[in-house]
Amino acid sequence: MCGIVGYIGHREATPIILAGLKRLEYRGYDSAGIALIERHHTNGNHVPSTNSATLSIRKCKGKVNQLEDLIRNMPKTSMLGIGHTRWATHGAPSDINSHPHTDQTGRIAIIHNGIIENYSAIKETLVERGHHFESETDTEVLAHLIGEFYGDGRNLTEAVRLALNEVIGAYGVAVVSKDSPDEIVCARKGSPIVIGVGDNENFIASDAAAIVSYTRNVIYLSDNEIATITRDSVKTRTIGDVEVTKDVEAITIKLEEIEKGGYEHFMLKEIHEQPSTVRDAMRGRVIEEEGSIVLGGLRNHLPRLRNAKRILITACGTSYHAALIGKYMLEQLAQIPVDVEYASEFRYRNPVVTEGDVMFVISQSGETADTLAAMREAKRKGALALGIVNVVGSTIARESDGGVYIHAGPEIGVASTKAFTSQVTVFALLSIMLGRMKSLSVVDGKELIRALLALPGQINQILESSEPVIQEIVKEFKDADHFLYLGRGYNYPVALEGALKLKEISYIHAEGYPAAEMKHGPIALIDNDMPVVVIAPHDDVYEKVLSNIQEVRARGGRLIIIASDSDKRIEKLAEKVIRIPETISMLLPILSVIPLQLLSYYMARERGANVDQPRNLAKSVTVE
Ligand code: G6P
Repeated sequence: MCGIVGYIGHREATPIILAGLKRLEYRGYDSAGIALIERHHTNGNHVPSTNSATLSIRKCKGKVNQLEDLIRNMPKTSMLGIGHTRWATHGAPSDINSHPHTDQTGRIAIIHNGIIENYSAIKETLVERGHHFESETDTEVLAHLIGEFYGDGRNLTEAVRLALNEVIGAYGVAVVSKDSPDEIVCARKGSPIVIGVGDNENFIASDAAAIVSYTRNVIYLSDNEIATITRDSVKTRTIGDVEVTKDVEAITIKLEEIEKGGYEHFMLKEIHEQPSTVRDAMRGRVIEEEGSIVLGGLRNHLPRLRNAKRILITACGTSYHAALIGKYMLEQLAQIPVDVEYASEFRYRNPVVTEGDVMFVISQSGETADTLAAMREAKRKGALALGIVNVVGSTIARESDGGVYIHAGPEIGVASTKAFTSQVTVFALLSIMLGRMKSLSVVDGKELIRALLALPGQINQILESSEPVIQEIVKEFKDADHFLYLGRGYNYPVALEGALKLKEISYIHAEGYPAAEMKHGPIALIDNDMPVVVIAPHDDVYEKVLSNIQEVRARGGRLIIIASDSDKRIEKLAEKVIRIPETISMLLPILSVIPLQLLSYYMARERGANVDQPRNLAKSVTVE
């Protein structure tokens, strides 16, 4: 999704903005741009003459490197600027549609994340008033609207505030003007803005990763807030014009966490981090000797959770697959009915939510627009909303009534890997906790915890042992057009996740299916060329899955099977076998997904795809 970076201070703005934009590349984008305000100096002694400044804009379709080429010969004396990476919504990726956009007079430049829903109505009115638009974007309309309010005694902040009062939709915006060359105005509604507070310099970004190398002190803007930022001050008020005092908070992410650390891609690094991220998800939460779990962020909600008539879980993408596993776990151990729904479906169908319901909202980023909207809808209808979120301080984390951080650290690869295993781990913790509050015995609780604590070592074992066979599979199947993934029970959502991973980064069409449902359709696809990945470790449904494997074999399908280390029967059924250690059924997804992540990674790499920034995808989808 789109990214925003801004700088005002005593240093050259361009390198800081470009470095910030590069940090945001992982979010997915198709064009980039920058606006710089340059003060005119008199007598060469760097004494600014009041209100004399120029605004320069460069922007292009393509990557930040292309923008860098474009601005190579520009004078690098600006100490104020804003930069943007755009992920197209209104108007195709093109130089003209790229941000920044300017107002009618060319004094103001704006960058914008989000969507202005009523932009065409505003545009019509402005056109009637003689405005001329160059791009097809909603953002240019907002720039012109701000321009309409600017002047006649109204400063830039006031102009932005009044314009935002007219718009319907979502925005994170940053605005500069050559007539106000000592400030950046930014505002947020539904799309994150973080202000980095420095020493005689300040930063803005849509994601703290862009500014973490410059400052660790930040202010998170809340929805409907606007900030006026100079090099030594940050003033915040609401869009309704009420002054607000914001706390300065410390960023928790470390610089090394957002660097590749010797790996070729972030995705590979993140796959290999899973022994420690799964351990971190459990850290301080497990009471081994009592067979129980403590989740501090849910402490105040335990009575309501225990008495919940129903649990709803909502999420998108990979987080949705983790939610499906969570359903199985919660129903098994806590015996509470659980409904899982895509957030994008939940929010638009007037779902039945009662006050006894508890909603878990699953999101790596904590910013996915549909997930956030589903949470707000459930809260409005009286449900208790609890987040299972990775990014600390994200909107879902802040707006939920409580929750559990998964503590996976920054996930940069667009294809989610470590967040998934940590989300599933947290669901296991939650299910044990609720189970123990109901009928799960101490002995059973202890057994589950023992199995949980063994997972990091077992993941390590898979990472160390599975690569050779995965490389063979990649060589053999790299030209396949389709893949089928099958699993049952706890491993059905893993089949969905394996297929999603392959689609996302290697662009091979893949479908995940419950193994037994294959008979009702996908079996028609199976021929001598069809690779079929079956997740068939020793679990409660192992024998049933063996029958499904036979059905594939009988039709000539090429079987790649994820099997338990000790399985002696599988070798003669499969073309390729990937081994994983044994664990209890409920925890198998945390192991069985690892080879599927590696398979999609190496497949994409072999096919020359851009692993960390797959085409058309965004890390965090902040538009509907
Ligand atoms: C995007 C990402 C996926 C992610 C999904 C949900 O589609 O590319 O990797 O699973 O959003 O994101 P969230 O941050 O809410 O978990």
